[in-house]
Amino acid sequence: MKRMLVTGGAGFIGSNFIQYILDNQQDVVLLVNLDLLTYAGNLENLKTVESDPRYVFVHGDVRDRDLVRDLFGRYDFDTVVHFAAESHVDRSIVEPEIFLTTNIIGTQTLLDAAKAHWKIHPEDKYSRAFRPGVKYLQVSTDEVYGALGRTGMFTEDTPLSPNSPYSASKAGADLMVRAYHETYGLPVNITRCSNNYGPYQFPEKLIPLIIHNALKEKPLPVYGDGMQIRDWLHVKDHCSAITTVLEKGGVGEVYNIGGNNERANLEIVRLILKELGKPESLITHVKDRPGHDRRYAIDNTKITAELGWKPAYTFGRGMAETIRWYLENPEWVEHVTSGAYQTYYQKMYGNR
Ligand code: NAD
Ligand code: DAU
Repeated sequence: MKRMLVTGGAGFIGSNFIQYILDNQQDVVLLVNLDLLTYAGNLENLKTVESDPRYVFVHGDVRDRDLVRDLFGRYDFDTVVHFAAESHVDRSIVEPEIFLTTNIIGTQTLLDAAKAHWKIHPEDKYSRAFRPGVKYLQVSTDEVYGALGRTGMFTEDTPLSPNSPYSASKAGADLMVRAYHETYGLPVNITRCSNNYGPYQFPEKLIPLIIHNALKEKPLPVYGDGMQIRDWLHVKDHCSAITTVLEKGGVGEVYNIGGNNERANLEIVRLILKELGKPESLITHVKDRPGHDRRYAIDNTKITAELGWKPAYTFGRGMAETIRWYLENPEWVEHVTSGAYQTYYQKMYGNR
C-alpha cells in the first residue's frame, strides 16, 4: 500500500504520470499532487482523475517549507516523485533566476521534509536509519550530461556538463539528491530521461509548437540549421520507466531512460507536415538558440538489462497518436494558447 506525493502533477509529464498510476497501480491508496499552477500547470490535464477518491490536489509551492512539512505530517507519504520544475530551456536563457529557486531550492525543501519525516531516530543527527520501504525519486534529464558529437551515448557514468541555465539547475538539484543519499543515507533514485512527447505537452516545446503552428499555417520556427538531434521517448514509456525504478531501482542508483529514437529536428518537422498535409514552405529557419546542444542520445542498457524495462511505443505509432490527440482536443489547445501564451510567443519569436 503506497502513499505517494507527486509534485508538478499538473504539468505535461506529471499529469500523464498521475493518470498512469491511478489506472495501473491499485497498491497506491493515496496520491497527493502538489502543484503551483504556473503557466505550465493546467488542471484540465487531470479531468479524468479528479473524482478518484485516492487523488488529492494541493495548490502550493515546493519551496514552501512549512507547507511541505505539514503535508508529510498530514498524509504520511512513503513515496515522493518530484517532477515540479521550470522546464523550458529557452525561458531559462531569458530569465535564469527562477530556475535556481524552483529547481534547486524546491528539491532541497522536499529532501529535508522527507528526511525529517522518514528518519527512525530523528533525535540522532548521525543516524542513517530510515523507515523501510520509503523512497524519494528525482525526475531529472539527459541535459545534465551536456552535448554529444556525432558519436557516443550518455551513460550513467558520463560526467555532468550542463550547458544551459535550465540544465545547470537540474544538475544542481541532482547533486543535492546525491548529497542527501551520501551524507544522511536517504533512500533515493535519480532518473535521467531524454525528450518526451505525447498528449498534454504545452506548445512551447518543439513537437506541440510545430503541430499548433502547422494547423494554423503559421511559420514553423526551426533554430539554426535544424540538424540538432534529440532522442525521443513517448511520455507513457517514461511513466512506466519511473514506476519500474520505484519498484526495483537499487537505493542510491541513477537510471537513464530513453527509447533509442534519435531524430534531427528538421526530420520531425517534415514528419508533422506530412501527417497534416501541410506544405514544407512553412518551414522558417530562425536565429539559433545560444549554447544550443547539438546532440543527445541515451544509452538505456542499465534500466533495460538490470530492471527489465523496455519502451512499448515505436516512434511512428507515438507520433501518429500524438498528432491525433492535438487534432481531437482543440479546446485544450485553445485554452493554453490564448492570453499569456501570445505575449510569450511574441517575446520569444518576434524578432528572431
Ligand atoms: P512542465 O513544465 O510541463 O510542468 C512543470 C509543472 O511543475 C507544472 O505543473 C508547474 O505548475 C509545476 N511547478 C513549477 N514550479 C513549481 C513550484 N515552485 N511548486 C510546485 N509546482 C511547480 O514540465 P514537464 O515537461 O512535465 O517536466 C516534468 C519534469 O521532468 C521536470 O523536472 C523536467 O525537468 C523533467 N524532464 C522533462 C523532459 C521533457 O521532455 N519534457 C525530459 C526529461 C526530464
Ligand atoms: O532532453 C530532455 C529535455 O528535453 C528536458 O529536460 C526539457 O525539459 C525539455 O524541454 C526538452 O529540452 P529541449 O531543449 O531539447 O526541448 P525543446 O522542445 O525546447 O527543443 C527541442 C529541439 O528543437 C531543440 O534542438 C531546439 C529545437 N527547437 C525548439 C523550439 C521550441 C526549434 O528548432 N524551434 C522551436 O521553436
